[in-house]
Amino acid sequence: MKVTVVGAGAVGASCAEYIAMKNFASEVVLVDIKEGFAEGKAMDLMQTASLNGFDTKITGTTGDYSKTAGSKVAVITSGIPRKPGMTREELIGINAGIVKEVAANLIKHSPEVIIIVVSNPMDTMTYLVHKTSGLPKNRIIGMGGALDSARFKYRLAEALDAPISDIDGMVIAAHSDTGMLPLISKATRCGVPVTEFLSEEKQNYVIEETKVGGATLTKLLGTSAWYAPGAAVSVLVQSILCDQKKMIPCSLLLDGEYGQKDICLGVPAIIGANGAEKIIEIPLTDAEKAKFATSADAVRTVNGDLKL
Ligand code: NAI
Repeated sequence: MKVTVVGAGAVGASCAEYIAMKNFASEVVLVDIKEGFAEGKAMDLMQTASLNGFDTKITGTTGDYSKTAGSKVAVITSGIPRKPGMTREELIGINAGIVKEVAANLIKHSPEVIIIVVSNPMDTMTYLVHKTSGLPKNRIIGMGGALDSARFKYRLAEALDAPISDIDGMVIAAHSDTGMLPLISKATRCGVPVTEFLSEEKQNYVIEETKVGGATLTKLLGTSAWYAPGAAVSVLVQSILCDQKKMIPCSLLLDGEYGQKDICLGVPAIIGANGAEKIIEIPLTDAEKAKFATSADAVRTVNGDLKL
């Protein structure tokens, strides 16, 4: 029940905090390259344990991967985030080298690990880990859809003036401003399609605000968001560690599903003790199928920039 989080920055620390607060893991190990940073974040978080009532042990290390040995799950958040005006794709040059090296170090000390990739451009970084790590495909999961779906539900609740607990909905395809596909046709309020309540204009507003959800926050904060990303990662980690078998959209290596091969893209999957246990193919409208294919083309172009 040990979890490693690489990158003790904004997102990594938020992951550690939410995982610990939910009290399902025995230990969270934070790793960073900045001297003393992970140790400091771990100590600060541990000093919230008696206040917040959790028993998860949080430790930190500056790059000593032997401390991560025996991790069931490892989350990769190391790398640079985007600044206002930047796309996620512009981060590839720096983040690809970091993600590849970090994945190799994790696997060396935890050969059975399930890796969750967070660093951006996330779909391409997830593909990179598939191409370079040798892990089976069920053990490499990209986190984007869980966050984007939460942002979709936030916008739906706002448009419907409804409590978020009434809302269900999912975002699939690429984790990018243009490639994201919020499935408005399948979103519901208490089982009733939201399309029954929202005008076409309002539906389009929700879709567009969801797609630029990350960019909106980056503009406000001056860097990318961390609370919702950390919470989204904690939901994935809990589903694995507690074998909950939740259906969560994740970036997974496709082999014919949704008409795509040799690419990582957001699709609904059952997440349990074996990682991504099953991809669920849901029926899409013709317009959604076309958008999914366009989204895949764009990710393939970014993947082409990888030096494999
Ligand atoms: P940050 O700059 O606050 O933290 C990144 C940390 O990684 C830094 O502490 C840095 O020292 C560390 N680091 C860099 N190279 C490393 C290495 N080789 N080994 C260990 N640690 C290393 O950035 P933030 O805001 O935490 O974002 C992290 C990444 O997550 C970015 O690429 C960002 O775009 C991405 N992100 C992805 C989301 C998603 O939904 N997939 C959501 C939000 C952010």
